[in-house]
Amino acid sequence: MTALAVDALSGGYAAADHVVKGVSLAVAPGELLCVIGPNGAGKSTVLKLLTGLLRPRAGRVALDGRDVTGLSPRRMIEAGLVLVPQERNVFGTLTVEENLAMGCFLDPRRARARMAAVTERFPLLAERRRQAARTLSGGQRQILAMGQALMSEPRVLLLDEPTAGLSPKAADDLFALVRATAESGVAVLMVEQNALQAMQVSDRALVLVDGRNAHEGPAPALARDPEIRRLFLGGRGAGRMDASGTGRETQR
Ligand SMILES: Nc1ncnc2c1ncn2[C@@H]1O[C@H](COP(=O)(O)OP(=O)(O)OP(=O)(O)O)[C@@H](O)[C@H]1O
Ligand SMILES: [Mg+2]
Repeated sequence: MTALAVDALSGGYAAADHVVKGVSLAVAPGELLCVIGPNGAGKSTVLKLLTGLLRPRAGRVALDGRDVTGLSPRRMIEAGLVLVPQERNVFGTLTVEENLAMGCFLDPRRARARMAAVTERFPLLAERRRQAARTLSGGQRQILAMGQALMSEPRVLLLDEPTAGLSPKAADDLFALVRATAESGVAVLMVEQNALQAMQVSDRALVLVDGRNAHEGPAPALARDPEIRRLFLGGRGAGRMDASGTGRETQR
């Protein structure tokens, strides 16, 4: 069964209520789906609608076949769906261990067992357990944020641009950990700006343009599609798109 099934999801903000205009997607356990698209396409807004930070105006969200549309952020976490936001995703003054414990706030009794499982998966976090999060490198902080999210043993993990601002080497390492996390059985939905790199590690890719599904398919095949290559490599090959989808590079 699909872990996450999203059908014709629509919504937005009080000031701009038609941002996401009928997005559909599905992610199975053990699968990695990347969602790519130009700046402003609505990728982060989809994540906010899925986590209950925004209430969908229309459409349906199901977790393991159970309708969870419109649940609060807390209920979504309880139902097994956790987001790693792009920014401010760890507490800088807290230690690695304390940050991990925060990921288990709904069920603190499980913290010890989950900490053992997560630090076994990400040994770096065991080595750094007493260090303040702010002393970690950008890549290490993203690993901590992912570890914190895995503390609640989610069925579905959502990642918003996990490699933003990382060096190519740190991005490669992080993509490998995301891949391994999916292979452990979690359904992973990863929003990425490093489109071509993301497609290379993903099972399937969904291209969002202007709040709608524009292209989708098996990720490696989609990465070879001339239309997709034109969209993402039209500029100098940074693998990014601008809001017009013409492939010119964007300055972020
Ligand atoms: N808090 C907000 N209030 C009103 N409009 C917003 C808000 N946040 C985003 N928007 C608008 O919603 C649209 C989609 O934004 P969103 O952040 O989802 O895009 P994105 O695909 O994640 O882009 P990026 O690649 O830059 O992260 C944009 O037009 C943006 O201006
Ligand atoms: Mg975004």
